[in-house]
Amino acid sequence: MPGVVPSAQGGRRRPGAVGGVAPVAARAGSVNAPPEPGREGPDAASGPVQQGDAPFTVGQDVEVTIEDVAQGGWCVARPAGLPVMFVRHALPGERVVAHVTEVTAKFARADAVDILRESPDRVKAPCPHARPGGCGGCDWQHATLAAQRSLKAAVVAQQLRRLAGIDREVTVEPLPGDGSEIGDASEITATSGTPGLGWRTRVQFAVDRDGVAGLRGHRSHRVIDIGDCLIAHQAVRDLDIPGDDWSGAATVEVAVGGAESTENFAVTVVEDAGRRQKGHTQKTKSRQGGSGRSANSKRTLVEGRAYLAERAAGRLWQVSAEGFWQVHPAAADALSQAVLAALDPKPGDTVLDLYCGAGLFAGVVAPLVGQDGAVTGVEFDSAAVKNARQNLGDFPWVKFERSDVARAVSEGSLPPARLVIADPPRAGLAREAVDYLIAARVAPERPAERFAYVSCDPATLARDLALLIDGGWTLENLRAFDAFPMTHHVECVAALTRLRCVGLARAAFRVGGLGVAWPPGHVVAEAGIADQQAFLHQDAEGL
Ligand SMILES: C[S@@+](CC[C@H](N)C(=O)[O-])C[C@H]1O[C@@H](n2cnc3c(N)ncnc32)[C@H](O)[C@@H]1O
Repeated sequence: MPGVVPSAQGGRRRPGAVGGVAPVAARAGSVNAPPEPGREGPDAASGPVQQGDAPFTVGQDVEVTIEDVAQGGWCVARPAGLPVMFVRHALPGERVVAHVTEVTAKFARADAVDILRESPDRVKAPCPHARPGGCGGCDWQHATLAAQRSLKAAVVAQQLRRLAGIDREVTVEPLPGDGSEIGDASEITATSGTPGLGWRTRVQFAVDRDGVAGLRGHRSHRVIDIGDCLIAHQAVRDLDIPGDDWSGAATVEVAVGGAESTENFAVTVVEDAGRRQKGHTQKTKSRQGGSGRSANSKRTLVEGRAYLAERAAGRLWQVSAEGFWQVHPAAADALSQAVLAALDPKPGDTVLDLYCGAGLFAGVVAPLVGQDGAVTGVEFDSAAVKNARQNLGDFPWVKFERSDVARAVSEGSLPPARLVIADPPRAGLAREAVDYLIAARVAPERPAERFAYVSCDPATLARDLALLIDGGWTLENLRAFDAFPMTHHVECVAALTRLRCVGLARAAFRVGGLGVAWPPGHVVAEAGIADQQAFLHQDAEGL
C-alpha cells in the first residue's frame, strides 16, 4: 500500500498529505479522548484504540511518550498494555501524537505528527521534505548533529548488548567537516560544506511515471519530488538531476569522484522496460556540449565517465562508477586509519582483505607490510577487481582473487594471513567467513591473530561478533563513525585479537584433540570440552 494511508475514517489520504495533522478530536484514538481504565499513566494510549482484534489501526492518532531509540531511525514507545510502537520523527523523552502508519501482529509503526513536549535535542529539519510522510532518505534531520551521534551510539551499544552480550560504551565520532552543528559558519569546510549536509557523493534517484526524478518515501515506492537534496554533495546538486525529464527511466544514479579531475562524475540511467512497453516516450534534454541522455538500454552511462578518480590514504584511486566507494568524502581516510590502528601491520606481515572492493584497505596496509609481506584481496565484482589490480599495480606483493568470499574461504585456496580485514555489505560476514576466522583451517599452524571488521550494520556486526567471541576472538576496541549524517546509518570498525595459543588450541582440538604437542612457551588447559570458551591460556614463561 505504498504511499497511500487510509484515514481512520476509512477514506484515502493523498500521499503528500500524510504528514498533516488532522483535527485530533475527529480521529479514532484522539489525543483528547480519555484513556481507557487500566491504561492511565504517562504512556497511556489515549482513546478507544481497541478495535476488533487490532489494538491499533492505520490512520489512528495516539498520544505516547517516547522512551528510547531503536535500530533503523525509529524511536520506541511502549503504551501501557498495548503493543510496542516504533515512531519516526520523534526523539527520546518527547511526548508526541503518533500517527499509525502500519500495524503488525506484534507492533505498530507510526510517525510523530505533533510534538507535545519537545526534546532539547530537537531542531528544525534543514530540508522541508524530512518530515512525516515525506522523503525516506533522512531519519534524524530533526536532531542536532551531536544528538544524532548519541542516538547512533545508543543503537550500536544496544545491538552489541542484545545480540552479543557485550556491554560497551560506544562513541560515534564525527568525520572531518561534520564536527559542529548546522549553521555554525566557521565550520563550513571544503570537504562537505555545512556540517552534516553536502556529503553524499553517490545518489540514486527514483523516477516516477511522469519522468520526475526524486527520492522515495519511507517504506514506500512513492517518488517524492524533492527538487534538491541537501545531504547530496554540491557536485551532485550542480548536476540538477531533478530538473530534467527522465521519462522511461526507473532510476538515475549519480556518482561524483573526490579527486580533482575533469568530468569526475557519472550519470547512469537504469531503464524500466515495462514503462516503455506502456507507450511512455523518452524525452531527453541536452546538456551544454553534451550529447543528451538516453535510456535506450538497461543501464546507460548518459553523462560523465565510467571510472571516477578518488583520493584517499595519500593515493589516487580509480573506481568504477558502478562499484563501491565510501559515499562520505572523509570516510575512506577515517576508516583506513581505524583499520591500520586495529591491525598494526609490520614488515613481512601477511594480510587478507575480504570484500575488498577497489582495494582501499589492501592499499593502505601494502606499503607497511612491504615486499617481504603479502596481501590478498577477495572481491566478487569483476570491475572492482580490475580497478584494484590497476590501483595497486605498484605493489607486486598484493594480489586479488575474484571470488565470492564464502567460496574463497571454503575452498582453502587463500594463503595464510596473520591479519584479516573484512568490510562486508549490510548482510554481514558470510557464515563460512566466520567459520574460517574461528577455525583458521587453512593454516592452523599460522592462524590469524588480528581482525579488523568494518561494518555498516550494527545488527549484523553484533551477530558476527557474538560468533567470533564464542570462537575465541576478543573484542579489543570498537570505533564508530558518523559517515552518514542525518540518516540512521553508522559505520563501525571493530578490532579483534586472538591469542596465538588459543587459535592453536582450537585448531589442534579440531584435528586431533588435546594430545597434540603445543608450541614451546605456551600452556593450554581445557576447562570444559562442551564450551570452547572455557579454554584457559597462560604464558608458561610467565609462570
Ligand atoms: C562495503 S564494500 C567494501 C569495499 C572496500 N573495502 C572499500 O572500502 O572501498 C563491500 C564490497 O564487497 C563486495 N561483495 C559483496 N558481497 C560479496 C561476496 N559475497 N563475495 C565477495 N565480495 C562481495 C561488494 O562488491 C563490495 O565491493
